[in-house]
Amino acid sequence: MIIQPRTRGFICLTAHPDGALQAVKNQIEYVKSKGEIKNGPKKVLVIGASTGFGLSSRITAAFGSDAATIGVFFEKPASEGKMGTAGWYNSAAFEKEAHAAGLYAKSINGDAFSDEVKKETIELIKKDLGQVDLVVYSLASPRRTHPKTGVAHASVLKPIGQPYTNKTVDFHTGVVSDVTIAPVENDVDIPNTIAVMGGEDWKFWIEELKAAGVLAEGVKTVAYSYIGPELTFPIYRNGTIGQAKNDLEATVTVLNDLLKDLNGVSYVSVNKALVTQSSSAIPVVPLYISLLYKVMKAKGTHEGTIEQMQRLFADRLYTENGEVALDEAGRIRVDDWEMADDVQAEVAKLWNEITTENLSEISDIEGYRKEFFNLFGFEIDGIDYEKDANENVQVTSIE
Ligand code: NAI
Ligand code: NA
Repeated sequence: MIIQPRTRGFICLTAHPDGALQAVKNQIEYVKSKGEIKNGPKKVLVIGASTGFGLSSRITAAFGSDAATIGVFFEKPASEGKMGTAGWYNSAAFEKEAHAAGLYAKSINGDAFSDEVKKETIELIKKDLGQVDLVVYSLASPRRTHPKTGVAHASVLKPIGQPYTNKTVDFHTGVVSDVTIAPVENDVDIPNTIAVMGGEDWKFWIEELKAAGVLAEGVKTVAYSYIGPELTFPIYRNGTIGQAKNDLEATVTVLNDLLKDLNGVSYVSVNKALVTQSSSAIPVVPLYISLLYKVMKAKGTHEGTIEQMQRLFADRLYTENGEVALDEAGRIRVDDWEMADDVQAEVAKLWNEITTENLSEISDIEGYRKEFFNLFGFEIDGIDYEKDANENVQVTSIE
């Protein structure tokens, strides 16, 4: 079958297995080019392992320090002429390359919020690895069915207090316009968003892994957060999602207590704004990212998810002297290059100037658009999209 991109809003409905394989290979090559991560993790569980930061974390662990990895994700498999999702093809590609390199890699496809998937994961760790020494928590989801109450929580992206108006871009058409987002007007949006994207599920995972005895002495766990510039504060950090990120960050204290007797430690890493399936759904943010990419590429400080995660592992989590640099709030910062004063000053200046007319000149909208399609295996250099795609791909998954 010849597979072409088919989009609806900020979603791409199709995905290309050969493009996904090449994109994964490119990430692997990058990690290898940076050399071995000394004292790196050896047995790793990645929750949210199929796309974005989670996939890049898994690739970094495997190809940066020869780690055995178990990946948990929620994807649609390819089956009998029906296309799989991008994360499915990414995971098949990762496993193919990992196995070829002699590395253990298995995956669990299911709802990570559920008790069942936690139980299956624990069984798999017990059977194959015994224990894990790193747990990466990289879920991004619009909903969560709570495993104890059965309540289905839906997260929202809304400001709190007053409406928020700012510029936004439709990256398919290149039209810049003003968007106004109404604030939360009920008592449920904030707690629901915290229930989905806050720290409770991370805590449940670590509690259950610990109780089962599958966390190694000295175990580390890391989850990902975002802060960003003032211009996105109303929709991001001071909005509903920001309340969930506050909750996630506060969970570090709880987990450090829980892990104390194992000499374990938990971290939140604040990462850079990047094109992923999740971030493309947030209003205003894609326009900010287009300007950020333009400025950071000109300065030579631009990074994608793999550069971010390689730097997180090599320069933060697994340093040679064992020290982990934290900010005043106790967080790891790999958004440091995004938040540099000169970068932010230039982005703020361009933000005031940006219009539909000058979009392609003063922003990297073309880079944004290309990276968006890259997430689904399209527009990857070296792939012939006029040829039949190889859909016969495998994931060693347990469902
Ligand atoms: P993503 O959408 O690329 O990845 C989400 C992952 O979660 C996928 O592997 C998906 O299969 C998995 N997932 C979703 N629901 C699931 C479920 N019910 N059960 C099992 N797996 C499920 O997202 P991205 O952007 O990599 O986000 C990961 C984390 O990084 C999030 O906490 C996000 O807030 C954070 N982050 C993202 C930034 C960005 O600009 N994209 C910046 C800084 C932090
Ligand atoms: Na992820």
